[in-house]
Amino acid sequence: MAGAIAWLDPVREVIEPARFGSDHPMRTVTRQIGGGDGWSPQRASFVAGVFDELSVGWHADHSSDVRLAPLEDALDRGGLGEGCLVEIGCGTGAATERIAARRPVAAAMDLSPKMLALADPTLAPFVRADAGVLPLASASVDVMVLVNMFMFAAEYDRVLASDGRFVWISTMGDETPIYLPPDEVIDHLPGRWTATGSQAGTGLWLVARRNLGSPGARG
Ligand SMILES: C[S@@+](CC[C@H](N)C(=O)[O-])C[C@H]1O[C@@H](n2cnc3c(N)ncnc32)[C@H](O)[C@@H]1O
Repeated sequence: MAGAIAWLDPVREVIEPARFGSDHPMRTVTRQIGGGDGWSPQRASFVAGVFDELSVGWHADHSSDVRLAPLEDALDRGGLGEGCLVEIGCGTGAATERIAARRPVAAAMDLSPKMLALADPTLAPFVRADAGVLPLASASVDVMVLVNMFMFAAEYDRVLASDGRFVWISTMGDETPIYLPPDEVIDHLPGRWTATGSQAGTGLWLVARRNLGSPGARG
């Protein structure tokens, strides 16, 4: 156990998600990447192609208030703090839009050109990038947001400032294909972390920060 999660009582309506994804093939990829394994140029190309194919219609399906309730709740109660916010795996910018309504988004990154092509460029600089090798300096990001995104934990740890906030959102909980249990998300991050989390709408959120000063922590 690399950290502890303090669960807050829900303040928004919690809704049982539709059942469609817990045995989805992308779950295997999610587990492999979370374990620090299984990413290659071939897989990057395959994953980009999968999301290119899914891009048409994605935005309408993924931008409702219910889907994005966990993000809104994290923004309300997660204690994100100020500073440079970067979103990784932004897709068509459904979450970017909600974040940009509250604060600047320094960059929103994704692997799929067709997802990015559907994002509103007035919201943020949208950048094609692979989360496995982020084009970001070490310790340069204060708030990193992931919504239904793979856990490239070593790379996220590298680019996040020592007192940065790691925001992990699952919009449909265990039914989202790209999903890991919250304890595993924290365990995959190098060193020791403390997180706050809750449920909202059909999903859940975590905001994690390093236990500075503890063995294995950076800073
Ligand atoms: C499940 S979708 C989520 C999209 C968006 N966050 C949302 O909730 O609507 C996962 C996104 O991650 C992107 N993605 C997958 N692997 C990636 C990688 N290695 N680097 C950057 N983006 C990646 C995909 O292209 C896709 O847009």
